[in-house]
Amino acid sequence: MTATSPSSPAHPDANWWRQAAVYQIYPRSFSDANGDGMGDLPGVTARMGYLSALGIDAIWLSPFYPSALADGGYDVDDYRDVDPRLGSLADFDAMVAAAHAADIRVIVDVVPNHSSDRHRWFKAALAAAPGSPERARYHFLEGLPDGLGDDGGLPPSDWPSHFGGGAWTRVVETAGPRAGQLGQWYLHLFATEQPDLNWDNPEVREDFHTTLRFWADRGVDGFRVDVAHGLAKDMSPPLRSKPELEILVDDGSDPLFDRDEVHEIFAGWRTVLNEYNPPKAAVAEAWVPFTERRLMYARPTELGQAFNFDLLQAHFDGAEFRAIAEKCLSEAEASGASSTWVFSNHDVIRHASRYALPDSTTLETLNAWLMDDGVSPEPDLARGLRRARAATLFMLGLPGSAYLYQGEELGLFEVADLPHDSLQDPTWFRTGNTLKGRDGCRVPLPWSSSEPNFGFGGTPWLPQPEWFGHLAADAQDGTAGSTLEMYRAALKLRRELQAEESLEWLSAPGDEVVHYRRPNGWEVLTNFGGQPAQLPAGVDLSKLVLTSGGPAGTAGTAAEGATGATIAAETTLWLAP
Ligand code: NOJ
Repeated sequence: MTATSPSSPAHPDANWWRQAAVYQIYPRSFSDANGDGMGDLPGVTARMGYLSALGIDAIWLSPFYPSALADGGYDVDDYRDVDPRLGSLADFDAMVAAAHAADIRVIVDVVPNHSSDRHRWFKAALAAAPGSPERARYHFLEGLPDGLGDDGGLPPSDWPSHFGGGAWTRVVETAGPRAGQLGQWYLHLFATEQPDLNWDNPEVREDFHTTLRFWADRGVDGFRVDVAHGLAKDMSPPLRSKPELEILVDDGSDPLFDRDEVHEIFAGWRTVLNEYNPPKAAVAEAWVPFTERRLMYARPTELGQAFNFDLLQAHFDGAEFRAIAEKCLSEAEASGASSTWVFSNHDVIRHASRYALPDSTTLETLNAWLMDDGVSPEPDLARGLRRARAATLFMLGLPGSAYLYQGEELGLFEVADLPHDSLQDPTWFRTGNTLKGRDGCRVPLPWSSSEPNFGFGGTPWLPQPEWFGHLAADAQDGTAGSTLEMYRAALKLRRELQAEESLEWLSAPGDEVVHYRRPNGWEVLTNFGGQPAQLPAGVDLSKLVLTSGGPAGTAGTAAEGATGATIAAETTLWLAP
């Protein structure tokens, strides 16, 4: 039996997601309709005109469910409701209807690896005794002897939490023979407030099917699956030591991540998603370093897509970009998935800032830069934005889906100097204030250069810097060559020029100017070098429709894009067929 979703977009197309431009909304920071300082669902509805004019195909909303916000909403109290601070289910329905009326699909986030500690199941687990069915929905274990007389005084394993500290917290028992005493430990690979669910438990599996149907029945078009690679765990005693969270081998034997058993779970999800016509789309967030294994999540029999964070982690370097694109496209083709591309999201430093830092920057130096409030090393922001724009046009020309993060269309930089007392990311607290975490890319958006709070709404939950003013949406609206206008032009052209999911490389590997052509003749050239470069022979600039360096369609000066014979430094050109 298949069900057609309420208020589906006008043109139901089972493959809409394969080459979609998907815009990520971090709801708390997008637009605040009720003036309480926190973005909300009516705020999203109110900005549907902006989203439509931007030219995206879908929005993906990070969690908007009831939550104590211990991890920005990825600590979910109730998977089938809306946080009252962000609206109501009726507001959600209104938002979906407005999106569909604008021919924009809606993707919601599902967070299956962990619930929050305020979820009714976890409350029941704390109230129940060890060994009870209530505990069996999570991972509760006895600890190890501490050698000081407490048989369970040490955590069951050395597993670390992603946000710093250990992955186990001990509870005081409230039932059973040890009531009133310290007892079992529960697993949380993220914050203490995010207990990991036990996916060996059929009740957990069934409940997530109910959640998928709940939102699918309300008309959502797809799901983004949080920590998709983490659900299946090897909890057989003795737990294996794993002091680092990296996955080191590609044989599915890691005790915590990317285990083969996880694929049964997603095969079950696909059955649910295919109950609808058109089937619901899904994309796995799976930080799996081995591309062949990552694509297992994206098989047509599972989620259909998996995020590919390879470009996000690459330097602004032609050889790297090309090698990644080549590998990911051929592997996606072999698996039947379409590739995905991402430069920024709510978990990483915005790409206009990453590219503004020295190329030798590593994760450690990025963290040090944040701790130094973005002062040292000194970022070259003009260069960072120039490169970000060039990278974006390189990526938007590729076959596959582009996932864009709110604010990148404004060329926003990371807010690296947030006052310490405003920080909210659990990373900041769990590392004893030694890592700042991800708040700098989550600062509420600037809509207006003149209104209070840059038109966001009430006093924002994270303070906005003064420089947001000249990057505000209204300051860029209609301004030729602004980043916003570049995104609008690119997304519009991308729809018009969209071609079969393949490309032909016209440059040689290692060339500083990377040049590819889609089957319909659409050409993309990026000069990754810091100096103007010779245009390859045969490039016909009369076909130039867009440059990352200046107003669309102008051949202009070298600084804007291209002259008769050269392409400007760190610039992308699009040539129409
Ligand atoms: C990935 C999400 O993108 C991130 O924001 C969150 O903290 C973790 N998963 C845990 O849910």
